[in-house]
Amino acid sequence: MKSLVLITATMMPILGFVGAEINVAVDSNCAPSGAHLQTGTLNCQCQPNHSVSCNGFQLCGVGKTNAALSLSGTYTATVQCTNPGGNVVEAHSNPTTSSKSGSAASTKNGCMVVSPLAISQPSDADFEAQATCPNGKWSKSVESNTVALSGFTYTFTFAGFPSTCPYITITGC
Ligand SMILES: *[C@@H]1O[C@H](CO)[C@@H](O)[C@H](O)[C@H]1NC(C)=O
Repeated sequence: MKSLVLITATMMPILGFVGAEINVAVDSNCAPSGAHLQTGTLNCQCQPNHSVSCNGFQLCGVGKTNAALSLSGTYTATVQCTNPGGNVVEAHSNPTTSSKSGSAASTKNGCMVVSPLAISQPSDADFEAQATCPNGKWSKSVESNTVALSGFTYTFTFAGFPSTCPYITITGC
């Protein structure tokens, strides 16, 4: 009994950590009744190059209902500001977003194929536009290896349901 308690206690933080990485939620209240996953796995991956890719899958039991999907990631970076005299100061960019959307159409048999969706990190110009240097004479450049992905949200929402009621929500990173 004693060792069982110990195992549970050491397992919990590990499970908690994994759970915090990618969280998949399915809300059947936000779907036509009978909608279900037919093939594939609901999941997204965060790549070392800061891309996020979400799997494709197939749903059935959706009737004639189409759907909209979107994937949005929030990124940060450190930007160097250099003045005409060569002085350098660092500025943190405001959170910078990269996003993509897509759609899925139901077929005659009440199924739908949902394509994979992926985003990649914003361009240097996007980060530079989100950073404030002392004044307009300073030039901006993203410091290498300072780009970070702070998180992403994937949603899959059936037509006719409010945007606050996605059937699938995947978050993480
Ligand atoms: C990032 O890495 C993934 C997986 O290796 C690859 O599929 C994707 O094309 C890469 N994206 C960019 C923008 O390099």
